[in-house]
Amino acid sequence: MKDKLTIALSKGRIFKETVPLLKAAGIEPLDDPETSRKLILDTNHSDVKIVIIRATDVPTYVQYGAADLGVAGKDVLMEHGGQDIYEVLDLKIANCKLMVAGFADRPLPKEHLKVATKFVNCARHYFAGQGRQVDIIKLYGSMELAPLVGLADCIVDLVDTGNTLRANGLEPLEHMADISSRLIVNKASMRLKHERIQTLINHIETAVQAKR
Ligand code: ATP
Ligand code: PRP
Repeated sequence: MKDKLTIALSKGRIFKETVPLLKAAGIEPLDDPETSRKLILDTNHSDVKIVIIRATDVPTYVQYGAADLGVAGKDVLMEHGGQDIYEVLDLKIANCKLMVAGFADRPLPKEHLKVATKFVNCARHYFAGQGRQVDIIKLYGSMELAPLVGLADCIVDLVDTGNTLRANGLEPLEHMADISSRLIVNKASMRLKHERIQTLINHIETAVQAKR
């Protein structure tokens, strides 16, 4: 048990961009989550497994030690709160920005601003820090639709190219945070499997620097 390592990843961009970094540390998954329905992937090391979960669930698996390590966006970590987790490395992958977006030609109301988002905690913290009163409407996706149908005045969402906003007649209004994905480690695992995990971190850190 002490020598086993479980790494939590979400499929899609995080899996794709993490695989080369793990490879630099000598770890290669034997299955591809895009084609396999398996949720526990074997790797070329019999004692290292990769679990495939929703991006927003990665901090929870690591927090409770169901996974020793994981890769999660800073947005997801800020929303989760980061309890019982060490954020050990900025992997500089899945880069984007957390932004307030809305209609460029409609000033945001000063009071009772209606904000639609899946980042409820981030939004509450951001607007409270500016002393702005907001009503937050929790959504699970397609946030861009909310201002178009009058559900909200603006959204808090991730922006990369800005294409999704533009395609829906919206524009970025306020920059909240720069986002990239982070390597996270369960606090107890870090203590109990320190040498193994530290070696892995060192290899991944070298690979991240080599890419720059
Ligand atoms: P869930 O499945 O839990 O709802 P998700 O659909 O947001 O999560 P992904 O789209 O794979 O999962 O996003 C994973 C992470 O990638 C996000 O948490 C964010 O840090 C980053 N990300 C999201 N959208 C973009 C984007 N358009 N460009 C670059 N990085 C992004
Ligand atoms: C993310 C985000 C935006 C979009 C921004 O969605 O929620 O909708 O990317 O990227 P852009 O600025 O380059 O258009 P994603 O593609 O991850 O879809 P999802 O939220 O449905 O997973």
